[in-house]
Amino acid sequence: MKIRKAVIPAAGLGTRFLPLSKSVPKELLPLLDKPIIQYAVEDAVACGIELVIIVTSREKMAIENYFSRNMALEHILEQKGKGILSDKLRHISEMADFRFVSQKEMLGLGHAVLSTKEMVGDEPFAVILPDDIFQQREQVLQRMIEISEQYQGSVVALKTVDSSETERWGVAKVNRITGSRYKIEDLVEKPHPSVAPSNLAVMGRYVLMPEIFSALEATSPGWGGEIQLTDGLKSLLKRQGVYGYQIEGEYYDTGTIQGWIQTTVELAMKHPEYSPALRERLSLFKGDLPQI
Ligand code: G1P
Repeated sequence: MKIRKAVIPAAGLGTRFLPLSKSVPKELLPLLDKPIIQYAVEDAVACGIELVIIVTSREKMAIENYFSRNMALEHILEQKGKGILSDKLRHISEMADFRFVSQKEMLGLGHAVLSTKEMVGDEPFAVILPDDIFQQREQVLQRMIEISEQYQGSVVALKTVDSSETERWGVAKVNRITGSRYKIEDLVEKPHPSVAPSNLAVMGRYVLMPEIFSALEATSPGWGGEIQLTDGLKSLLKRQGVYGYQIEGEYYDTGTIQGWIQTTVELAMKHPEYSPALRERLSLFKGDLPQI
């Protein structure tokens, strides 16, 4: 069945970005010339997804405003002869059909996904964690959709991580099917390296069968006292196949200040418009960088 819907969880408190995220949702921080969350939407749309469901909270209305049309502003821009800018604004709200679900309590990623049950309905769907950006952009989700269609099961993105870092991720026990494809045998949320089943970590892309909702409804709070998507998938894989797609290429984690800065610099260094000036500026600092 065609994947028509994507869920983007964006209700988190963004504690790693406080106090900045007190008034600016971290998903709206810029990566070059657009907010982080727009990369997730663009990837979904490039995979043929038509409906984007964003899970937000009352405090994060700015996300809804960003993806909603602002006719007054478009009109002002047109009157000022800035029609191109006005078109650019309209394009953002027309990229997909947007729906917003308010997560009333911060009970974890699994709970955020569960809050979209009515909107998703009885069909497979994608989940995109906006913090995670891949060099191969939409190709990651595209491959995962193909695998889901072929095996009629849920699919998670996997990447090899340093064995000492397993506590940052959901970690999978796997059986290789072929090449970059795996059958998932077990999943553990943020295990200590001594008990991690492997060093294959779950990255922020999922294609999920609708049965995940009943699995999540039966899932008790796990790591951090929250309802974990990893635990929902762990119980789902006892009933239905869950598969893994090992991604290639760079992975960018924009979910920490450090990661966000690094991603910004790396993307800027590769960007045809921003790279020349940045490279020139950096080349001035042969020795110590000046302190700010
Ligand atoms: C979430 C998931 C985790 C996954 C990670 C990918 O964790 O719970 O299983 O590995 O996303 O980014 P979070 O980063 O929200 O702590």
